[in-house]
Amino acid sequence: MWPDWLAEQAATRAAAGLTRALHPRGPDDAITDLAGNDYLGLSRHPDVRHAAAEAALVWGGGAGASRLVTGTLTLHTELERELADWLGQPAALLFSTGYHANVSLVSALADRDAHVISDAHIHASLVDAVRLSRAQLTVVPHNDVAAVRAALASNPGRRTLVLAESIYSVLGDEAPLVPLARACAEHGAWLVVDEAHGLGVHGAGLVHARGLASHPNVVVTATLSKSLGSQGGAVLGPPDLVDHLVNRARPFIFDTGLAPAATAAALAAARIARARPELAATIHTRIAALAERLEVPRPAGAVLSVPMPSPAVAVATQAEVLAEGVRVGCFRPPSVPDGISRLRITASGGVADDDWERATKVLDAAVRRAREAGRR
Ligand SMILES: Cc1ncc(COP(=O)(O)O)c(C=O)c1O
Repeated sequence: MWPDWLAEQAATRAAAGLTRALHPRGPDDAITDLAGNDYLGLSRHPDVRHAAAEAALVWGGGAGASRLVTGTLTLHTELERELADWLGQPAALLFSTGYHANVSLVSALADRDAHVISDAHIHASLVDAVRLSRAQLTVVPHNDVAAVRAALASNPGRRTLVLAESIYSVLGDEAPLVPLARACAEHGAWLVVDEAHGLGVHGAGLVHARGLASHPNVVVTATLSKSLGSQGGAVLGPPDLVDHLVNRARPFIFDTGLAPAATAAALAAARIARARPELAATIHTRIAALAERLEVPRPAGAVLSVPMPSPAVAVATQAEVLAEGVRVGCFRPPSVPDGISRLRITASGGVADDDWERATKVLDAAVRRAREAGRR
């Protein structure tokens, strides 16, 4: 029964052009990576690598237990203090991934009695978090503050979370954080802002940059796996929220603490990103020039989204540029709620100038060919 079902599923995916596969890479392959999220190139910074190696030697390979058992290391609390201080938040709690941070936060706050208002383009981790919470869900059109306000007004007096990403992971645009926070404050709701693609790209993140750090109606989640070049996640907010998560968030309670090497790498990377905000300047210059060249709107951060005429053309274009030594991301339904397949191109300060220049030429030609194919 199961093999037949799996074969049927695979055939359906193949017929729709939606087959996915893993492509292992070596540590030093010759491909220019414009698909990853190591925006500041910190994953390979010497201080970050040394911090990870030293932590593994001092602490061992893993934390050894869940945080509430014996898996809380002084290294964890040092990173929690560093992140809270950098982002201007009263407290922070680490998780083993950004995915876990989102699932923990939403599922520990929202229950059947709560209302969650979610942007249509929210990351899968938040979508899954809402499913787990069993809260009433209202999905609003992307970046539509009026729709958020209407949803808030439709359910007065209910404990409500509004979910947004500071910079959207696939579209690359920015959330209207200030009006969203104002709407939440007026209705006693909390705005959850996922800073996965804002942190490091905009210093201490967009919540901080927009003057919303420590706002009583704003809670932040972050990942250590993008600009900080490591692995792990965090929730930042008031101490009573952290205390609640420690006691109630199942993906926190029943999960081994973040590995020492990942913790130390993120700590070293956070200190570098904090001390050298100019590292992000390269990202903004590069992505603005590429957006102009490919004739797409200039994004808010490091992610450039290039719509493709179909999933098949998107996949073919991705393969074409890879054959020319450039790796880009490719998003197709169901990862894109509006059904528009896209190339996702990221700028990283870790890519050498020559490689970036060559890659932009390759992309320019390939995107033109893809658009031409779409017109045929
Ligand atoms: C917006 C957003 N949130 C959360 C995550 C999950 O973070 P992590 O990879 O650390 O689990 C991602 C990763 O792709 C993301 O893009």
